[in-house]
Amino acid sequence: MDHEPKKQIHPEFQRYIDQQPYSIILDGLKFTIDKDVFPPDMGKCSQNLARIAQAYPAQTVLDMGCGSGYLALSLKRSGVPEVWASDIHAPAVDCARKNVERNESVGPVHVVQSDLFENIPVTVKFDLVVFNQPFGPGQGDTVCGCGPDGGYRIVRRFLRQAADRMNPDGVVIMAFSDREPAENSPDQVAAEIGYPVRTLLHEYYGEANNYIFEIRPRQREESGRNS
Ligand SMILES: C[S@@+](CC[C@H](N)C(=O)[O-])C[C@H]1O[C@@H](n2cnc3c(N)ncnc32)[C@H](O)[C@@H]1O
Repeated sequence: MDHEPKKQIHPEFQRYIDQQPYSIILDGLKFTIDKDVFPPDMGKCSQNLARIAQAYPAQTVLDMGCGSGYLALSLKRSGVPEVWASDIHAPAVDCARKNVERNESVGPVHVVQSDLFENIPVTVKFDLVVFNQPFGPGQGDTVCGCGPDGGYRIVRRFLRQAADRMNPDGVVIMAFSDREPAENSPDQVAAEIGYPVRTLLHEYYGEANNYIFEIRPRQREESGRNS
């Protein structure tokens, strides 16, 4: 028997989930957000990530944990020649595929169901990977694909895999909110492994500090080599 108290879903998140499925225009792109798919219009995180990611002159980009496909489509529309989108969660993969079809003039985007990099061809090397990861571990059933391995576990597993999947100057961009304990933050996990990190954004909103980090997995420093 599991006696741990279940983590409450944030009331704002619950309001978005209760509306699903719903259709929206986001940055001029058309989306339907299906049931049990992460709402990219909730808060500012996904849109901040899209804006910051577009500033990188990347040729090949991956939207890891793509949910509705919002980041992938916004990067494709900004002119990135090759865009991949992947998610472990079947409803998200389905939803992203349909949203790519809805924005026919923007695509193509390669949409793949995958646990992190597992089903992404090793021959494809990325200049930029954007991952709006689950910020902390959930409890009980997964919600919009976010489950008990969120936070530290998924960030560490992802960052370790990313080093072999990127071009030498490749960059990872990840967000975090200090609603979750600092041990889950990508900057701390990256520093533990020895990857250089830069803070690209720090804003206080939604009663929390919100961050976007740039991490360079191919430029691992000696200090982290044994981690
Ligand atoms: C916070 S949502 C972000 C969705 C979307 N990128 C956005 O910004 O709107 C995190 C996404 O990561 C996906 N995810 C969780 N674990 C994953 C894994 N091991 N591999 C790939 N995707 C995963 C979830 O299914 C979910 O869609």
